[in-house]
Amino acid sequence: MISIAVSSQKGGVGKTTVAINLAHAFARAGVKTLLVDADPQGSVGLSLSRQSRLLTGFYDFLADPSISLDRMIVPTRLETFSLVACGQASDYEAGGGGMGTHLARVRTFLRNVADRGFDLCLIDTAAGLFGVTGDVIASSNAVMIPQQAEPLGIRSVPKLLEGLNRLRVMNPRLTVLGVCLTMVQNELAESRESASALRELLPEEMLFQTQIPRDGLFIRASARGLPVGVLEEGAGAQVVFDALRAEVESKLEASAGHHHVQA
Ligand SMILES: Nc1ncnc2c1ncn2[C@@H]1O[C@H](COP(=O)(O)OP(=O)(O)OP(=O)(O)O)[C@@H](O)[C@H]1O
Ligand SMILES: [Mg+2]
Repeated sequence: MISIAVSSQKGGVGKTTVAINLAHAFARAGVKTLLVDADPQGSVGLSLSRQSRLLTGFYDFLADPSISLDRMIVPTRLETFSLVACGQASDYEAGGGGMGTHLARVRTFLRNVADRGFDLCLIDTAAGLFGVTGDVIASSNAVMIPQQAEPLGIRSVPKLLEGLNRLRVMNPRLTVLGVCLTMVQNELAESRESASALRELLPEEMLFQTQIPRDGLFIRASARGLPVGVLEEGAGAQVVFDALRAEVESKLEASAGHHHVQA
């Protein structure tokens, strides 16, 4: 099994949108996919039901690792696509405790997911690279970093690079898939300039070629906590995530040579 964390230092850059839609793209391609909400705010959980906060989920497992995966897995209409909600997370668990506190439990969680026969575990994390998010990244095979295509977002890139180096130290086997530009508006000079600034700042292989355009459909879908592809009008917007999926697959194959996502 491959585990991929979707993370960023900055909040609101499109992590949850990328995680939901990319997971859906893999599942549609026949990859047995589990999407895990490791953000205590519980954004993925929105998709499950209004009462998703009451579902037993990831943070419950961190508090009590005897909870079986069967109690946490929520099936979807797509047989290859399942979810785990965030569960009951206190702020203490999110930020406190320090790096490494939950490391062993995150690893156990991922082992349980692999034992359950999943091909891919995509993990939507809270913003920041510390606390439980740091533990998730330290336990995952790979990480990808959404980045908003706006001047303010691009200014944080040096910090982001610093953060990535820190992650590589934490987990030397981590494959950094790279930065994926989100909310791109090619009709805006500022957005285009941000994209080219990022291209200059990052080594070529660190930037995904696929860019996620700004599209109101993503807001509509995420208000309902759904992948855009399940909206009647969402087929076009879904295509970009098929491209992102293909790029993730080839980046995984290129890395270390032994990461493979297979249906
Ligand atoms: N490509 C896009 N086009 C239009 N709106 C988008 C796009 N991606 C994300 N959004 C919207 O921007 C907001 C932030 O996106 P999202 O929740 O995915 O970011 P996040 O990084 O997960 O945020 P947080 O750090 O709070 O978890 C949401 O309202 C979402 O609907
Ligand atoms: Mg989020």
